Amino acid sequence: MTRRRQIYEGKAKILYEGPEPGTLIQYFKDDATAFNAQKKGTISGKGVLNNRISEHVFTLLGNIGVPTHFIRRLNMREQLIRQVEIVPIEVVIRNVAAGSLAKRLGLEEGLQLPRTIIEYYYKDDALGDPLVSEEHIACFGWASQEEMHDIADMAIRVNDFMSGLFAGVNVRLVDFKLEFGRVYDNDYSRIILADEISPDGCRLWDMTTNEKLDKDRFRQDLGGEVEAYQEIARRLGLLPEGENTVLDMAEHRKNRGK
Ligand code: TMP
Repeated sequence: MTRRRQIYEGKAKILYEGPEPGTLIQYFKDDATAFNAQKKGTISGKGVLNNRISEHVFTLLGNIGVPTHFIRRLNMREQLIRQVEIVPIEVVIRNVAAGSLAKRLGLEEGLQLPRTIIEYYYKDDALGDPLVSEEHIACFGWASQEEMHDIADMAIRVNDFMSGLFAGVNVRLVDFKLEFGRVYDNDYSRIILADEISPDGCRLWDMTTNEKLDKDRFRQDLGGEVEAYQEIARRLGLLPEGENTVLDMAEHRKNRGK
């Protein structure tokens, strides 16, 4: 067996060389970190669920014309993606005050914002991903003016679509993080949506009870992390009825093969 070449290992995912030039394999781990990796843990089965949830959301976004890196899911934990040059900016879209926004400005968590806010954070672990403005992005050349226009435009479209998608299953999309990348066609580059969309990088609250169905369960030691991720997958129609979990299916297959 030949060993695949690992390109990059992040906190929750590993990227391997893909089967064709310009492709990569994105592997979803069960590892979870919070507060710039000061808190570490594992959420058993998270990778399987995030692979599936991200596949679903990226496919739907592709259908409405948002260009993404997603090509296809390969197996329980892996998907084939287009290789991109990641723009070193985390784009956070907020509809409701929570997390660092609530803390920074002393807002009550759960306050509906009068308008959607887009924030940018410079991706640098050593600096703890600081909040930056478009002025900083332009000044240091992290993305061009034109790229920032495309990024903000896509972020709003993704927010509109996802807010509706989740509202349809009684979930409030409080906030979420996106990452974008550049792909090159000859001398031109364009921006496409990259990374993942999963409960790791979204705040998702049940609309009736305000129960948290996302990584805040891990960040805040609330417990029931995997159940929350499963609940999101179940509401999106990704867990077949009669099977308790995606994990059970994986275990079932493994045991059958023994
Ligand atoms: P924040 O309130 O902690 O700034 O987070 C805003 C959103 O971005 C929230 O949905 C979680 C997500 N996020 C990430 O995906 N990665 C990160 O490193 C951080 C800080 C937040």
